[in-house]
Amino acid sequence: MRDLGVIPAGAMLVRDGRVELTGTRAEIERWVSADAEIVDAGGRIVLPGFVDAHTHPVFAGTRADEFEERMQGATYAEIAARGGGIRSTVRRTREASEAELLETARRRRVWFARGGTTTIEAKSGYGLSVEAELKILRVVRDLAADGKLRYVATFLGAHELPDEYRSRMDAYIALVVEEMLPRVAAERLAEYCDVFCEPSVFPPQKARVVLQAAQRLGLKVRMHADQFSADSGSLLAAELGAATADHLERTGPAGMEALRKANVQPVLLPASVYALGSNTYPAARRMIDLGLAVVLATDFNPGSSPTASMPMVLSLAATQLKMTAAESITASTINAAYSLGRGGECGSLERGKWADFVVHDCDDYRELPYFFGRDPARAVYTSGTCAYKFSEY
Ligand code: NIG
Ligand code: FE
Repeated sequence: MRDLGVIPAGAMLVRDGRVELTGTRAEIERWVSADAEIVDAGGRIVLPGFVDAHTHPVFAGTRADEFEERMQGATYAEIAARGGGIRSTVRRTREASEAELLETARRRRVWFARGGTTTIEAKSGYGLSVEAELKILRVVRDLAADGKLRYVATFLGAHELPDEYRSRMDAYIALVVEEMLPRVAAERLAEYCDVFCEPSVFPPQKARVVLQAAQRLGLKVRMHADQFSADSGSLLAAELGAATADHLERTGPAGMEALRKANVQPVLLPASVYALGSNTYPAARRMIDLGLAVVLATDFNPGSSPTASMPMVLSLAATQLKMTAAESITASTINAAYSLGRGGECGSLERGKWADFVVHDCDDYRELPYFFGRDPARAVYTSGTCAYKFSEY
């Protein structure tokens, strides 16, 4: 994870939206035809676009009010128990029209681009009814339609029990399994299925029912695991052969060993720990030492992690997870791409992959976690086309 393969004074030849050649400028210049478009990065660093492998980007409203309450002592769990938290976003998201949700999500999409992200894993989970979950997943599909950024959709129907199913968990699970999942699969609206697996939300024996039903329909699995209590989520992720287990703030040795044996990638979300005002960060160093292909992501959502900035996540990875800049860039590019089944297409600038790259206003890649609180992307390219340009001053 510490070897980025940096090419000093590098250059890249792009053709038909894909990387054709990388090397030093002198090597590449020999192959440039007279009609080629030249993009001069001006000596700045060029990186593969970040792959943000865990986000909840389609929702209505904010929870700035609850954030303020939490800073005055209320806890995330207390707010959720009295009907706030995820359920308050669900109420507003249900009321919003598909067009409104698309408009808001498009406005927020630029926040990802400013941080240098080109691929976004996007979960549903603020609908929690058949129609509202499908509405959110159609918004994800429509966000992807103009090709500016890439999306990978995940169905998260088991994110919370909606108001009308309080204390009727089995009935809600039946709705997810018998009605939501078949529609999601038939309409090809998601590639992955996720569950918020937590003894107090969906305990493992319930999460298993949802995720196995998803697997029978051909969906792959990623999971919210061990955010507030140890190991039940990671053990289930290992049992089911999930692509990822995400959060893992409470994972102990047994959970980690299970992930390693089953080849499940940990997705670490330090911005959600930070924004919840907690000090319990995941044990990234231990996971890296075990040889796990660690991923970093924003967890962008209105409750626990209101940021879409990968550079902010890299800063937290440095100060809180003790990861080097190279490790955190590996975790948020190539490792993240593999976690989404896109390792052959993006996450690095190698021959044959999509030319998804970002010019950052930095002289050295180590400035990304170091100068924190800024998003230094100058230009964002997907498939070799400039999707966003940000001015310097
Ligand atoms: O990843 N843990 C559950 N889901 C989100 C939070 C969603 C919310 O608070 O709205 C998370 O932290
Ligand atoms: Fe999440």
